[in-house]
Amino acid sequence: MIGNRMTALEYPSWEKLRQHAQTASKFTLRQLFAANRHRAEIYSLEAAGLFLDYSKNLINDTTIELFQQLAREAELKQAITNMLDGGIVNSTENRAALHTLLRADPTKAKDNLNTHANLVANACKQIKETSQAIRLGSWKGYSGNTIKDIVHIGIGGSYLGPYMLDEALEPYRTKGKERDICCHYVANIDAHHITQLLQQLEPANTVIIIVSKSFTTLETKINAATAKQWLLTDMELKDLSKHLIGITANTSAATQFGIAAKNVLPLWDWVGGRYSLWSAVSLPIAIRYGFDAFEQLLQGAAAMDEHFSQTELSANMPMILACLGLWYQHFFNANSHAVLTYDHGLRYFADHLQQLDMESNGKSVKLNGAAVDYPTGPIVWGGEGSNGQHAYHQLLHQGTHFVSLDFILPLKPHHHLKEHHDWLVASCFSQSQALMLGRQFEQIEQNNNDASVAQELTRQQHKSMPGNRPSNTLLLNQVTPHSLGALTALYEHKVFCQAVILQINPFDQWGVELGKELSQAVYSSIQTGEAGLDASTNSLTARYRKTFPN
Ligand code: F6P
Repeated sequence: MIGNRMTALEYPSWEKLRQHAQTASKFTLRQLFAANRHRAEIYSLEAAGLFLDYSKNLINDTTIELFQQLAREAELKQAITNMLDGGIVNSTENRAALHTLLRADPTKAKDNLNTHANLVANACKQIKETSQAIRLGSWKGYSGNTIKDIVHIGIGGSYLGPYMLDEALEPYRTKGKERDICCHYVANIDAHHITQLLQQLEPANTVIIIVSKSFTTLETKINAATAKQWLLTDMELKDLSKHLIGITANTSAATQFGIAAKNVLPLWDWVGGRYSLWSAVSLPIAIRYGFDAFEQLLQGAAAMDEHFSQTELSANMPMILACLGLWYQHFFNANSHAVLTYDHGLRYFADHLQQLDMESNGKSVKLNGAAVDYPTGPIVWGGEGSNGQHAYHQLLHQGTHFVSLDFILPLKPHHHLKEHHDWLVASCFSQSQALMLGRQFEQIEQNNNDASVAQELTRQQHKSMPGNRPSNTLLLNQVTPHSLGALTALYEHKVFCQAVILQINPFDQWGVELGKELSQAVYSSIQTGEAGLDASTNSLTARYRKTFPN
């Protein structure tokens, strides 16, 4: 299982970790547990209402000590303070990354961040007023109707976070006397989605929220224009102010598009898209679940920030997760990290993490511009348990890939069907157990003349499972706005710690730019039929033009 990857991370502890990994690769989880009956308690910790059991990992105290040394050598503590204090951590864009300020107590802001904190406080006021007006019905559409539907248009960080939150918070949906407002999320430029959605809605009862930090993103611009046209089939230009809201750092583009200035809620260049769910980007959450729920979300994240910034590595949840990720990726050849959420509401959590981690740490150049000669961010994927057990878990148990794993489970459900939940919990715990223990068969004496013994041996080989596959288990008491805030912030900080140690910038995303630029040329070739592209793209474009002419 041990990797033979050459890494060039020049920390003195790195070589020690490499040597230690030679020993650790011979550990078996069975032996580690047998050797210390307190292992489950020793390698578990609590923070911001979350509980992490990381005892099912191929580690011992030496591993943690070496990672502590690594953190000191990488000056992780200083890097965290620098980020929290508004240092320019996004060097290629010359920007701070102050998503933590969005959830911090504004009265406690450092002097240099007072202006930013005031902007955040004002934006919060706007989120509160807007959400309450729509939620309580004082916001009326052009015909005097109250609002029944919200269409949130955005993509990437302007979509994945609030969508994930909304699905997770569904049990908190207002029931009974209060009005229930439906929120719909449109990201894809594929018009199948927006056309299917809009045909079910009434413009007079609908508010369209256009969310784009840059207000230049193609998908959002095209979907926004379609939605605006749809509104105008039913109302006049002057009525749009009752049906269009913008959330952006580019106010002038939003107002030019036709959004009333008073309906534009701010974003700032010091908040990255994938870290923006703590801002007005999550306005639908405040509308649908109330401003209190939005505040609790922020408080959960702030509690994790507090833990992250105040706790030393051996008890620091984001740091431990970061170190375990690096441990497997760099010393055990794991390229892939799966997040398996045992909760229907958390089924889009892995999608959010995918952008958070892969857009942040999918880099191949160090902060100093030199190419890395070691792996950076892993492939992040995952999904909902127990569904995955009947799909991709086969590969986790018997496949040839080493995948590092996080199981996430809320202890209390939002329903009363205990039998279901007991089975869900049993499924989650038994998966990590099966991965750890595997299945070995008693040796059968092979007798060449006995076909049935040979057959049995073959059968056993197919059924045997190596085990010794590590995993983390993260427990939430229940899915609440607070626990969701803490959970999401936990992964943000994990990704940051890894970036610091890997010496990369987690806050830019230049890799997505080329595709955007090339799509302009391909689009114009589709319009004009001019074949100025590479041969394959020319031929694909020609085939498209023939099948679906202009
Ligand atoms: O294309 C990637 C990206 O820039 C993400 O980083 C961002 O979250 C998304 O597009 C949307 O950007 P915007 O909010 O500016 O529309």
